[in-house]
Amino acid sequence: MAARRRPDVDAATLTVAVDRGGPDPAYMQLYGQVRDLILAGRLAPGARLPSSRALAAEIGVSRTTIVAAYDHLQSEGYLDGRAGAGMYVPAALPESLLTRDPPPRRAPGPSAPAAAPSLSGRPFDPGAPDAATFPAEPWARLLARGWRRPDPQLLHDRGHGGLPALRQAIAAHVGAMRGIDCDPGQVVVTAGTRDAIELLAAVLPTAGNRVWVEDPGYMTLRHALAAAGAAVAPVAVDDEGFDAVAAARAAPGARIAVVTPSRQFPLGTTMSLGRRLALLAWARDADGWIVEDDYDSEYRYAGRPLAALMSLDDSGRVIYVGSFSKVMFRALRLGYIIAPPALAPRLLRARLKFGAEASIVAQPALAAFIDGGRFAAHIRRMRRLYADRQRALLAIVGEELDGLLEAAPQDGGMHLVALSRPDLARRIDDVEASRRAAAAGIVAPPLSPHYTLGPGRQGLLLGFACADAPAMRQAARRLAGVLGAR
Ligand SMILES: Cc1ncc(COP(=O)(O)O)c(C=O)c1O
Repeated sequence: MAARRRPDVDAATLTVAVDRGGPDPAYMQLYGQVRDLILAGRLAPGARLPSSRALAAEIGVSRTTIVAAYDHLQSEGYLDGRAGAGMYVPAALPESLLTRDPPPRRAPGPSAPAAAPSLSGRPFDPGAPDAATFPAEPWARLLARGWRRPDPQLLHDRGHGGLPALRQAIAAHVGAMRGIDCDPGQVVVTAGTRDAIELLAAVLPTAGNRVWVEDPGYMTLRHALAAAGAAVAPVAVDDEGFDAVAAARAAPGARIAVVTPSRQFPLGTTMSLGRRLALLAWARDADGWIVEDDYDSEYRYAGRPLAALMSLDDSGRVIYVGSFSKVMFRALRLGYIIAPPALAPRLLRARLKFGAEASIVAQPALAAFIDGGRFAAHIRRMRRLYADRQRALLAIVGEELDGLLEAAPQDGGMHLVALSRPDLARRIDDVEASRRAAAAGIVAPPLSPHYTLGPGRQGLLLGFACADAPAMRQAARRLAGVLGAR
């Protein structure tokens, strides 16, 4: 396991320290500092770290703290070995693996039951994250900790904007990850994105008014808007995303636009800066509202993470909607709205009357999961895993589905758009292709029903997050079988 042996690192020379007044727990501080030393090359491949006992004595923390930090580093691939028998910097680092070969398979730990494929989602379910790597152990511990001796407030105070600790954790998270500067009072915890839209529909000028949505787009949200009495107006997107100027021409008089600027759903394009500025200008001039559905921007594989549209808005017109479905799991049914300050009180009042109201049960655990750094660490791990899986799926589509489907790389997200090749499109449409896939145990939604303006493009959405490469290859062979001769 250990790479070429290097001299042991002496506890006294390891430049790490714990700030007891700092916002992060001690083990996370150590985790971050050791990780930075490794990434900066100051802890070389093969170097053996001090024993937990020696390091604990040197910097004046408990051994448990050191063991927790080492565990965390190991779970992310920054260290190899066993606490007690020696921890080494591995020869190949996770970050460097991003641009080279896929990472070596690690022995499954207690929270990564790779030997339990039944946990994985069905290939190629586009919205499903990987179940086998979900950190079930720490999640279960945090759930238990939150409820063993519950604060009476937790039992009786519905706190309709959500658990205060979670609202705070979300505000810090979107500040760090999405560049959104907000106060916890602007956060409303929801039961997922549809609930968020239903709640927003109750306070925004929805009824009887035009609401722009993207075409192709996410039908679930369109239905929720239509049910609230909105005149839903689909607007075609192009390579630069949603176009407010074209929308104003094609469907004038709208007061609300619901858009996916970071990654258009389902096509995966990113809204250009010009289009973002045009949309913000429209909202200012038309007294309009922009609902930014930022459903999976955590997963970006190329370049820097994009700032949210809300972070560009200086006139309080963008409402940000986030979801925990993609990073945690869909059945959790938790998401959030970040409302502009002027809208937040109205939204909170409306929460008493409308919508599903998010269950409090998982909120203390989720708050601790985010605060303790596990949420961000899980995102980092999944980013590496999904980047590898996307590369694997592209190769698999080329090898197993040649002549049937074709897909191009995406710089983010959890699914590829696999367009029907002419041979396939001539024989069957994508709805039939998807139906045959479903009959073979494969979840691959058709692309064309996401369009309502014109017939739309033919293809299947193939998720690459929820199944490993061998399972995807097997599924692709089955898919090729049911889609017929090439
Ligand atoms: C465009 C879009 N928005 C939001 C979501 C997340 O929805 P929810 O938070 O209700 O699970 C999805 C999930 O597939 C989606 O495709």
